[in-house]
Amino acid sequence: MSHKLTRRGFILASAPAILPALGANDRLKVGWIGTGTRGNYVMARMYDAVPELVEVTAVCDTYQGNLAKGKDQVQTRGGNTPKTFVDYRDLLKEPVDVVFITTPEHLHHEMAMAALAAGKNIYLEKPLAHTIEEGFDIVRAAEKSGKVVQVGTQNRSNSLYIMAKELVDQGMIGDIHYVRAYWYRNSTSDNPAWRYAIPADTNEQNTDWNRFLGPAPKRPFDKRRYFQWRLYWDYSGGISTDLLVHQTDIANFVCSQQVPFSCMASGGIYRWTGPNDDRDVPDTFSAIYEYPDKFHINYSCYFGNDHFGYGEDYLGNEGTIQVLNRQTLHFYPETFRGKPPANVAARKELHIDIPGNDNYAVQAHVKNFIEAVLGKAKVVAPPSVGQQAAISGHLATLSYRNNKKIYWDEKTNKYRFS
Ligand SMILES: NC(=O)c1ccc[n+]([C@@H]2O[C@H](COP(=O)([O-])OP(=O)(O)OC[C@H]3O[C@@H](n4cnc5c(N)ncnc54)[C@H](O)[C@@H]3O)[C@@H](O)[C@H]2O)c1
Repeated sequence: MSHKLTRRGFILASAPAILPALGANDRLKVGWIGTGTRGNYVMARMYDAVPELVEVTAVCDTYQGNLAKGKDQVQTRGGNTPKTFVDYRDLLKEPVDVVFITTPEHLHHEMAMAALAAGKNIYLEKPLAHTIEEGFDIVRAAEKSGKVVQVGTQNRSNSLYIMAKELVDQGMIGDIHYVRAYWYRNSTSDNPAWRYAIPADTNEQNTDWNRFLGPAPKRPFDKRRYFQWRLYWDYSGGISTDLLVHQTDIANFVCSQQVPFSCMASGGIYRWTGPNDDRDVPDTFSAIYEYPDKFHINYSCYFGNDHFGYGEDYLGNEGTIQVLNRQTLHFYPETFRGKPPANVAARKELHIDIPGNDNYAVQAHVKNFIEAVLGKAKVVAPPSVGQQAAISGHLATLSYRNNKKIYWDEKTNKYRFS
């Protein structure tokens, strides 16, 4: 089944048979690098979406527990036993057509560059890379290689954002100069944000610390850094590159924008200040973006209150579109003192809810990638687009860490602070 959206709502439709059925030997051979939380989740969505088109023949992870989970899933869902690897360079020597890279942010660059050099097509989780410069390296290498690369910003394959874009393009909310985007979370005090569980069996023998560090500064084995890497600058941009990039990316898509020319970010560690909490990245974060043609994004994220959840509000001068939790869309025509102006009076409110729609988006995103590798489609999130989203994230981190407004020069592809 696929979800087909119309102006009046969505209908369920049988998926058209776009591709001829492939025989077992014609399936794309898949290698998987990083079978942690996201890796196993995306793999499950791949088996949901295109089981007949793929065969995972190799999996790689530096923690034995997650390597075993990845292998188990292949056996259960794919019905075959993949080869297992601890060093991704060994996996890249395998005759696989595509690799999924679902490892921590700081490893994306070296893994993507090596995969392209080995002639592989790549599904690369967001953010594209850990720095702006690394991102441009990947963009250039991907273009030169002619290989298919899909960045894991799956909102671009989400039926509700596609509909939001259609509504904006049709002029349903008039001119749009302002987007408000937010991601709010909370948890109980004994469960600090991003302090994900560390498996009880973890030790230096079953966790390859040096391979995890990769290009990051050397330091002694530290389970918290390994399993909670999002909290440390060496491996992550925190909120900016973990969460915000999804939302600037989709605001760019819905509003046909690309890269801001300035960003001013601020925040701090206000909520998760436990005595033993050595996190680097803020849990309270705001960023203001200006784009070249009178377009503004107001971004807000806080890990101490969940009430308003996740969403983007597209504030047009003739109406508002709101996408919440990636699964609910509202359209409200603009009114003045309770009455719509004559030119918008015919536009009716719209409310759509598709529970679990992010799962469908990931399936569609993976399917788009596989079909692109088979020459039947174009990827919706190539590296150039992933880089636009990543630039927003990195500008926010740089502004926050330098306590300065930052400017982006799209002619030179460089930032400056004044
Ligand atoms: N698109 C989305 O909505 C979304 C959601 C969550 C995470 N992500 C992205 O997915 C990626 C992974 O995040 P996660 O939450 O799964 O992290 P995770 O820590 O759960 O998983 C990372 C895995 O990589 C493995 N690993 C570390 N170093 C390795 C190396 N050198 N070689 C092979 N494997 C290695 C770890 O052992 C672990 O199993 C990140 O880029 C993250 O931003 C995207």
